[in-house]
Amino acid sequence: MGRQPDLVKDVIVVGAGTMGRVWMDTIARRGDTRVSAIVDLVPGAARSAARERGWDIPALTGLDEALNLGADMVLNATVPEAHLDVSSAALRAGIPVLSEKPVTPTVHEALVLAALSRLTGVLTAASQSRRYSAGIRAFKEALAGFGGAAQLHTRFFQNPRFGGFRDQMEHPLLVDMAIHSFDQARFLLDAEPESVYCEEFNPGWSWYRGAASAEAVFRFEGGSRFAYTGSWCADGLTTSWNGEWRGSAAAGTATWDGETEVLAQRRTGPAASVGLGAESEGLDAALEEFVAALDGGSDLSGEIHRNVWSVAMVEASVTSSRRGAPVSFAEVFDDARQAAIARSDREVAELLRAGDLPFAS
Ligand SMILES: NC(=O)c1ccc[n+]([C@@H]2O[C@H](COP(=O)([O-])OP(=O)(O)OC[C@H]3O[C@@H](n4cnc5c(N)ncnc54)[C@H](O)[C@@H]3O)[C@@H](O)[C@H]2O)c1
Repeated sequence: MGRQPDLVKDVIVVGAGTMGRVWMDTIARRGDTRVSAIVDLVPGAARSAARERGWDIPALTGLDEALNLGADMVLNATVPEAHLDVSSAALRAGIPVLSEKPVTPTVHEALVLAALSRLTGVLTAASQSRRYSAGIRAFKEALAGFGGAAQLHTRFFQNPRFGGFRDQMEHPLLVDMAIHSFDQARFLLDAEPESVYCEEFNPGWSWYRGAASAEAVFRFEGGSRFAYTGSWCADGLTTSWNGEWRGSAAAGTATWDGETEVLAQRRTGPAASVGLGAESEGLDAALEEFVAALDGGSDLSGEIHRNVWSVAMVEASVTSSRRGAPVSFAEVFDDARQAAIARSDREVAELLRAGDLPFAS
């Protein structure tokens, strides 16, 4: 099924909703990737996405039929609940998968997928598009120049009136949004979390059924702390959709407004604006990294064994909030491993029992 690295890569896009369509255009923008088939279980959805783009390609409702056509990669842009089934089927067919976030809704499903990826030797990764921007790169470099942040904060305040399923979710902010900030913190600290204490609540004026606000403090390996303050029902003075950030390091402090303004101040010196680079951002950058990995590149930041930590930050925060006590990531992964073994076939369960997931990639 694999194609030569120098040829155009065929991509099957699964899920022709909002993000699936954005991905189709992202794939088409590159000279070395093209959409070779579209799948959506809603009849007509794949066909209309292809027709809108003037593409004469297979537009199907059945995933197996598409996988049988062969491809160099699958782009999984289905709803989170379908991520494990779609990605597993592709891996078993020998086709690498780049998945929209969350790679799976739960840690135990992510461990199943990680084990399957290892068993089949086929690559899978999540696209966490908010870790690729000129602003976050400049912020990270400024902090690195000061010795690396030991205290990192973000404040995320937005007020969307989505209507629909998010208004009914039990944990709308933590489960549907916070993974972006949590993944950004892992990127900025270049480390993995050890424990979290989180409180979730729903302000009296909230238009959500579940908890629309949260305060969480993570301890990372090496002792650094990441504090997350967020709300999805904050009218007035909203932050950017990336939140606003501050990092304190041994030799100074840097801030990022979540968009293009990065400021840095060394212990003795004036505050100065930091210039931004011109590398690709967002979905384009996530795809670029994945294509490079298919061609033998090694630094795939959303690779499943690494990305599972971002999924775990969400799950651990929800557990801590329910319990009213700190939660360790060792416990989250132990529980998830047991749940993953219980639902897996013999070969996958054996790998999971071997015990080195997710710690080695
Ligand atoms: N990166 C971002 O900033 C960002 C923004 C929005 C959504 N997302 C993520 O993108 C994913 C898709 O979200 P969306 O807003 O496009 O949703 P959507 O509901 O607009 O589209 C999902 C599509 O997947 C299809 N689908 C569901 N199960 C399927 C299956 N088993 N096989 C084939 N098709 C299936 C649905 O029919 C639908 O057309 C989610 O994981 C979401 O969290 C990411």
